[in-house]
Amino acid sequence: MTLSIVIMAAGKGTRMKSARPKVLHTLAGQPMLGHVIGTTATLQAAQQIVITGHGAEQVESAMRAAFAQAPLQFVRQEPQLGTGHAVQQAVPVLPDEGTTLILNGDTPLIQARTAQALVDACGGQRLALLTITLDDATGYGRIVRDASGQNVLAIVEHKDASPEQRAIREVYTGMMAAPTALLKRWLARLTNDNAQGEYYLTDVVAMAQADGVSVVAAQPQSEVEVLGVNSPAQLADLERRHQRAQAERLMEQGVRLADPARFDLRGTLEAGRDVEIDVNCVFEGCVQLGDEVRIGANCVIRNAVIRAGAVIHPFTHIDGDKDGATVGEGALIGPFARLRPGAQLGPEVHIGNFVEVKNSTLARGAKANHLAYLGDATVGERVNYGAGAITANYDGANKHRTVIEADVHVGSNCVLIAPVTLGEGATIGGGSTIGKDAPAGQLTVARAKQVSLSGWQRPRKTPK
Ligand code: UD1
Ligand code: CA
Repeated sequence: MTLSIVIMAAGKGTRMKSARPKVLHTLAGQPMLGHVIGTTATLQAAQQIVITGHGAEQVESAMRAAFAQAPLQFVRQEPQLGTGHAVQQAVPVLPDEGTTLILNGDTPLIQARTAQALVDACGGQRLALLTITLDDATGYGRIVRDASGQNVLAIVEHKDASPEQRAIREVYTGMMAAPTALLKRWLARLTNDNAQGEYYLTDVVAMAQADGVSVVAAQPQSEVEVLGVNSPAQLADLERRHQRAQAERLMEQGVRLADPARFDLRGTLEAGRDVEIDVNCVFEGCVQLGDEVRIGANCVIRNAVIRAGAVIHPFTHIDGDKDGATVGEGALIGPFARLRPGAQLGPEVHIGNFVEVKNSTLARGAKANHLAYLGDATVGERVNYGAGAITANYDGANKHRTVIEADVHVGSNCVLIAPVTLGEGATIGGGSTIGKDAPAGQLTVARAKQVSLSGWQRPRKTPK
């Protein structure tokens, strides 16, 4: 059976009070619309159609970039005359058979199994509505059933509802599945004769009834799946619920979170056994934590692999970006360390406070404990890289490599002007500026000789 998916994303989102189109506001680091597209991409639909309007160009280019491989189709709705009018715009690109699933770009946490259950309830011949019963149904379209309670007769919008209808607590979530051929017929008959002067998609329910098509309702597994976002407060509320749910899933796997309310995952986190995460940590992109990894408070970690037994002390920032970053087994990082793309740290490496590492490989046991920069460097085993030492890797036009072989000691406050190689076991005297290779096993010092003047006296104030 042909499945077509239509995602409505043309609305303005006035209550967000933002220049950014509503559906591009992010939840867990991803635009709301991206969540919906990503989830429904798993349903194997013949087509995924996104209805755009407000900020259409921005929305389309953001989604094309995020879903390069998925076959997305965009259809513009100008002006926006209601949800029925939105789906009408998709009619020319919809086939004449199969089922159409209609979702909202501002309801980001819909799950694939719920969407599939809705499609199954439709079965290619019924009109299936996703509904939920709320304590406070204010603002929602109410599900009006017949006396038996078995058949749905209509959806009545809050603004059009009578006091009796407003007492109904079962509401329409904004998601439905319908036989495509029938849907097209019903859409052609919509009018805007209602309190808001809009073309309501929800009017198809009464049309289905009139055509003798049965109308059924399905329910989501949890309320969070059908919560839409209209305001910053609702977005923040949904974010917290989503984060709480992610935190609980991790805790079920054994991850020990100091406080699940102070945990943020914006991407995926894979964690081994006995992982501990202190408060206020943010994980972004794709992060892997090996067994017994400990993450201190206030760390931000993005696109990185932290191997077993490593300890990341508080306030450390690790951003692997596109190249990734790796922290080896048993390594100690931070507090206040910064690992950038291409930082590849071997086992037992120590990186201390205010040390920045970019595009550099550090072999087993290498240490840079204080106030240092390693960029485009290859660092051997057991190297000790002193406080204040830096690689001068950039000549203003090109980047060059610094090679520091095993067992080298680099004294404090050295400048290593790349390209340069420090041979195995070399010692570099503190304060040296090294522009030529340093031989293995020797002490290399490159600084002005220290002098002391014995007869020297401090200047005195001349009397007036
Ligand atoms: C809609 C339903 C209501 C339901 C509620 C659930 C209708 C008439 N009413 O109401 O029964 O309880 O959702 O949240 O459908 N959109 C467009 N183009 C438009 C208008 C809206 O693309 O011209 C998009 C919006 O961007 C949004 C979605 O459709 O993603 C829903 O629109 P919204 O205005 O929020 O619908 P409600 O009035 O809340
Ligand atoms: Ca809404």
